[in-house]
Amino acid sequence: MTHAHAPAAKTDDVPAIRVRGITVGFGDKLILENLDLDIRRGEVLGFVGGSGTGKSVLTRTVLGLIQHRAGTIEVFGQDLAGLSPDQHRALERRWGVLFQQGALFSSLTVRQNIQVPMREYLSLSQGLMDELSMLKIRMVGLNPDAADKFPSELSGGMIKRAALARALALDPEILFLDEPTSGLDPIGAAEFDALIATLQKTLGLTVFMVTHDLDSLYSVCDRVAALADKKVIAAGTLPEILAVDHPWVQAYFHGERALRRSTVSKVPVPLKAP
Ligand SMILES: Nc1ncnc2c1ncn2[C@@H]1O[C@H](COP(=O)(O)OP(=O)(O)OP(=O)(O)O)[C@@H](O)[C@H]1O
Ligand SMILES: [Mg+2]
Repeated sequence: MTHAHAPAAKTDDVPAIRVRGITVGFGDKLILENLDLDIRRGEVLGFVGGSGTGKSVLTRTVLGLIQHRAGTIEVFGQDLAGLSPDQHRALERRWGVLFQQGALFSSLTVRQNIQVPMREYLSLSQGLMDELSMLKIRMVGLNPDAADKFPSELSGGMIKRAALARALALDPEILFLDEPTSGLDPIGAAEFDALIATLQKTLGLTVFMVTHDLDSLYSVCDRVAALADKKVIAAGTLPEILAVDHPWVQAYFHGERALRRSTVSKVPVPLKAP
């Protein structure tokens, strides 16, 4: 790809998120080292990597919840390090997050959960918040009577949808999803993937999706980035990633599980790099 004729400083060219040279560690253990990553506007970027390699750590670092030791993070072209607390707060309103752990507050109903970010960032009347939360509940395909239920009264799939509704509470431009389909059966996972794809298109979202789910990568992601050896070793379309000569990539995409997937898939899957 060449940018020789690309006009300088055109806002469309600024990625939604630009990570450069990020290093994160706990004590003397480095988790991420000199990591680079771009999340382009309007794309669904799948983020893969072995368990414990730092996918959630990177997500939390970009969200400003974990400190980094080196590197820069820009969101919509703004360097996070240069922002005042007020400016950071303004930026936080532009993203929504579905965390891997603790998707919902267990002591609050679905409606109250969805209203948490509204209370924190907006000053709306209770009536308007109630209307907006019902809108979000419908948007994620939940029955309206789920609004007054507590998380313990919901199925795993309903919890994921309710957490998604909360992530959408502030009409974000960027959606962070950390393992959104984990724990769902294949049909539930496929339905959730379809919901993400629909919302992404209708709302024009940029989506960063950490996932272990090969089906999700094939069905909703525009590009995939792979984390190994403390950095992003490859980012590109699936055919581009499939061609990457790295032991983890080869084992993950060409291993037994991937092969098994191809035999049940209706869509032919390229098993060898083109
Ligand atoms: N707050 C923390 N303090 C110390 N170590 C941490 C902390 N958070 C994460 N780690 C460590 O960082 C490493 C990466 O963790 P992380 O949760 O990012 O993995 P992951 O890629 O998301 O894994 P999984 O796919 O299982 O969710 C792990 O070794 C973990 O123990
Ligand atoms: Mg994780």
